[in-house]
Amino acid sequence: MDVLINVFVALHIIGIGALLGGFLSQMKAMGAGTARFSPGMLHGALTMLVTGVALVGLNQADDQTVNNIKIGVKLAILVVILGLVYVKRDEETVEKPLFGAVGGLTVANIFIATLWT
Ligand code: HEM
Repeated sequence: MDVLINVFVALHIIGIGALLGGFLSQMKAMGAGTARFSPGMLHGALTMLVTGVALVGLNQADDQTVNNIKIGVKLAILVVILGLVYVKRDEETVEKPLFGAVGGLTVANIFIATLWT
């Protein structure tokens, strides 16, 4: 079970890579107002959701304690990220505050995941 959980943590991190990478690689474009939500960002956010839910199930099946409040906060933040990226996925440019919000919320979730122990 440990290996399976670690595999899903790795997939979870690949999801972060796609979402955060899409944001970081367009920070200059964001400044110019020409950034857009790339397909990779949407797929990264979806990957976070699927692997996150799987991690909750796997940890519970393995009798490991899951911090439900922390997971609830992370899920709520991801729902906002996913909603923004999904709704604006076909827009050729996304306003700076909206694009920045997705990057900021993603970074916030990373710190919640690592600092909230
Ligand atoms: C943008 C969204 C997210 C980010 C950036 C993120 C980030 C991370 C990171 C960096 C880890 C590894 C560090 C650790 O083990 O604590 C992790 C683990 C984990 N994540 Fe996420 N996550 C996100 C969304 C979610 C969602 C939506 C769920 C559940 C519905 C979730 C559930 C988990 C679980 C169960 C673990 C295993 C370790 C633990 O119990 O904290 N994550 N996440």
